[in-house]
Amino acid sequence: MANVIVLGTQWGDEGKGKIVDFLTPSFDVIVRYQGGHNAGHTVYFKGKKLVLHLIPSGILHANKLCVLGNGIALNPKAFLEEISCLRSLGLKIDNNIVLSRQAHLIMPYHELLERWTEEKRGEKKIGTTCRGIGPAYEDKAARIGIRVGDLLDLKVLREKIEENVAWKNEWLKLASYSELKAEEIFREYAGYAEQIAPYIQDVSTLLAKLIKEKKRILFEGAQGTLLDIDHGTYPYVTSSNSSAGGACTGTGVGPTKINAVLGVAKAYITRVGGGPMPTEIGGNIGRLFQERGDEFGATTGRPRRCGWFDAVAVAYACRVNGIDRIALTKPDVLDVFDEIKVCVSYRYRGELIKDFPPEPWILEKVEPEYRILKGWKTNLHGLRDYSQLPPAFLDYVHFLEEAIEAQVVIISTGMEREETIILEGKIDDLIDQKAIKSEII
Ligand code: IMP
Repeated sequence: MANVIVLGTQWGDEGKGKIVDFLTPSFDVIVRYQGGHNAGHTVYFKGKKLVLHLIPSGILHANKLCVLGNGIALNPKAFLEEISCLRSLGLKIDNNIVLSRQAHLIMPYHELLERWTEEKRGEKKIGTTCRGIGPAYEDKAARIGIRVGDLLDLKVLREKIEENVAWKNEWLKLASYSELKAEEIFREYAGYAEQIAPYIQDVSTLLAKLIKEKKRILFEGAQGTLLDIDHGTYPYVTSSNSSAGGACTGTGVGPTKINAVLGVAKAYITRVGGGPMPTEIGGNIGRLFQERGDEFGATTGRPRRCGWFDAVAVAYACRVNGIDRIALTKPDVLDVFDEIKVCVSYRYRGELIKDFPPEPWILEKVEPEYRILKGWKTNLHGLRDYSQLPPAFLDYVHFLEEAIEAQVVIISTGMEREETIILEGKIDDLIDQKAIKSEII
């Protein structure tokens, strides 16, 4: 069985949490490789809605090891809160969570600096989650970051906090914020250190050992490809590599040890925060998408901008990630439409474009060109069997497959695990269907 990356092919919120949760029985280890508590994976556990920000949803299954790689930006308070929430659900988690000693810590000044930068950007603001993610990665690239492993030596931790706070106070003064006190931050983080220490390990070494033991690993992407710092719609992106390459750099596992990349795509598209989105629909139809799809941010509660499926964007995501197989989510949101649009190309200054241009200054001027398909006008919600899928919907699926040059291998028809259809014979090399079915009641 294979080691697989599962990631989003749009601007996040594709339903990765549900797909990862569904596939988890087929794997031994679930690894997050980038991002921080800006992500929000909504899952249902014993009938309760649960939003996980940092810890992979694999933790809800018995005996799965959940690993946070070095590519993560970790807010220790958020991490510990999530652990206590999971404990309150009666889950035994102590030996099942591992945190890379090379992951970077989010510090109190990161959030302050981010709020200030966003304010300064005015109309051009990114619309970040204001969780301090960007500034934590800035410090990583500037080589002044404080890492999870630094929590293990309080002398080192104190020194690094003192240096950083002295520096950051200069900025905070410019922003007219009050000065921070290094000693207070040190005491707070020394408190976290004691609680976090048992989870800290060398993740690259651990994963290499598990791979040798033939354990199966699922790498779980956060955000989506179009929010990737390199391949997304820069600067309207997050500050890490959410695309497939991030799984290697964010864990210390080499690319030859990963066998496949499964993309997750929603049957339409959404975006939270600023930046262009060619197929965005406003007005009543946009609101209908929002309501039917419950498109409100899992982390910030902000309404998501909604639009028709953009095959130009998803084909691009398939290319940069090497995706040839897709899990299609939430097609039931489209059940009510007579006609369904799919964007197949853009027109820019009179010219036809088929390759997605990531520059926002081009994207905001492109005109999407649509193919109009017949709606299926029947209920897809909760369907569990391929034979129940209406022909007009299958035509839509085949059309998408051609447009994005990838095969649809999983169709999700609802939030529950059982509301998922695996297409016969198309993913047997990656997953153990018997293990998956054994967890579906
Ligand atoms: P940041 O990651 O907080 O720096 O935000 C940068 C951009 O990524 C903003 O447009 C956010 O709305 C977006 N973003 C960050 N995390 C997520 C997510 O989990 N889903 C969707 N959008 C996200």
